[in-house]
Amino acid sequence: MTIEILLRYVHFISIFTIVGALVSEHLLLKKSLSRSEVGRLAKIDGVYGLAVLVLLAVGLTLWLGAYGKPTEFYSSNPLFHTKLTLFIVIGILSIYPTVFFIKNKNGDQEENIKVPNIIFWMVRLELLLLFVIPILAGLMAKGIGITE
Ligand code: HEM
Repeated sequence: MTIEILLRYVHFISIFTIVGALVSEHLLLKKSLSRSEVGRLAKIDGVYGLAVLVLLAVGLTLWLGAYGKPTEFYSSNPLFHTKLTLFIVIGILSIYPTVFFIKNKNGDQEENIKVPNIIFWMVRLELLLLFVIPILAGLMAKGIGITE
């Protein structure tokens, strides 16, 4: 019981960290950024990446591990697979902004860099999907959607 509670706790804390990092990126993004501002975004993006890895590890343990509900409870629920798919889509959307931040943070820190529009839209889409997942999680946790 205790390990399951701990896993759920870390599951939520990593979600809060991901939301906090993505909202910060969205607020700090501007059409033109100095390299030092890009460096700050790269650091926030690093925290985001770490939280995603922790969330995935804990999520997989809650799903496949011997804690809480049996693995089949989730594997037989399309809502769970939709949740995982949205999580993977968020991961794919996060690649280009991460590469942009890493590629543009070094050099003259006062130099201004133009931020491609698509970076704004990728961060916004990540946030949108992130706000959809909890409804799927709540439904799947109650067993709604399970197909016999
Ligand atoms: C951004 C991504 C994610 C969000 C926002 C999220 C959200 C949630 C929420 C809100 C719950 C609690 C549901 C409830 O008790 O009503 C939950 C539980 C859970 N999540 Fe996630 N989750 C995410 C990613 C993942 C991933 C990647 C996995 C698996 C690889 C996963 C597996 C689970 C499992 C197994 C539970 C336990 C559900 C239960 O109590 O039956 N989650 N998640």
